[in-house]
Amino acid sequence: MAKPRISSIDGKLAEEFAVPSHVEEVKEKMAAFARHHVATGRRVVLITSGGTKVPLESRTVRFLDNFSSGRRGASSAEYFMDSGYAVIFLHRHRSLYPYARMFSNINMLDALKFSGGGGGGASSSNSGEVVVNQQALPNIAKALKRYQEVKEGELLLPIEFSTLSEYLHLLKAAAQALSTIGSKAMFYLAAAVSDFYIPASEMPEHKIQSSNGPLQLSLNMVPKILSPLVKDWAPQAFVISFKLETDATILLDKARRALDTYRHQAVVANVLDSRRGYVVVVTPETQAELIITEEDVKNDVEIEERIVSNLTSAHNKFITQ
Ligand code: PMT
Repeated sequence: MAKPRISSIDGKLAEEFAVPSHVEEVKEKMAAFARHHVATGRRVVLITSGGTKVPLESRTVRFLDNFSSGRRGASSAEYFMDSGYAVIFLHRHRSLYPYARMFSNINMLDALKFSGGGGGGASSSNSGEVVVNQQALPNIAKALKRYQEVKEGELLLPIEFSTLSEYLHLLKAAAQALSTIGSKAMFYLAAAVSDFYIPASEMPEHKIQSSNGPLQLSLNMVPKILSPLVKDWAPQAFVISFKLETDATILLDKARRALDTYRHQAVVANVLDSRRGYVVVVTPETQAELIITEEDVKNDVEIEERIVSNLTSAHNKFITQ
């Protein structure tokens, strides 16, 4: 039997990035989730979402963060489940979460009230029943209904990361877990991942002291994890990466270069300021612009619905080929 290829990135991951203690347990959970859903005729998408955190000290007080609210990942998860996929949601702790994302700007206490008109003020009894103030939570019933259906169908497996090390090891575990379902697996890598890190061996243990003067940091390059993911860990899967730039003039060129380098199936290219209204899905043969108009905004149409529709069709073709 052919032995699995060990890339140099595997070695680097093991040596320089702390392995989370629960990684094997999570890998088994993801593999069981994928087996179960594929047996019932579903496909499985692994969504990464949110930004990674790179600690500067091992007893961390300070860290570098990559920007991402998690909205792209969380809303895409909903549209994938609506399209018949089961979703492994590998997301940054406390970033936006499917369904709950719609209420993330609302203070929970403003959304609740005492029944029977009692204000629940300091002088009144606080034993009255607490009910939802539906005006403060528009569409709560619709979101709750769908969330409960998703829970009952066990369609969503949430896995959390905070640090870059956790992200890298959990993504590798996910890729290996999903390799058993071959082309029925999709990877949708929307997380914003740091390109720089401090290796565990060079990280100070204690808080860096400002009394030592200005801080100069020297950061190593993070290995490009897409490369072993596509070649070694899940070679039959349908893989989508994201490309984020702030300079629109270099975006498409960078997206094409990523496809040439990693040989995966598609890149979703976006510019930070316009990411909610405009993306380009780039494949080796095609380039599709997806746009949200003002009319779409009025009708609550989100760009993730279009991205997911484009990619689920491409995944269909990929499987039948
Ligand atoms: O969450 P929101 O606020 O809604 O914003 C969504 C988003 C802008 C974060 C999202 O649409 C997006 O563009 N995500 C990717 C951002 C990014 O980090 O791009 P990048 O150029 O650094 O990475 C490109 C690809 O390589 C990514 O798919 C990443 O998963 C992958 N990568 C990155 C670093 C690394 N060491 N290995 C990788 O494989």
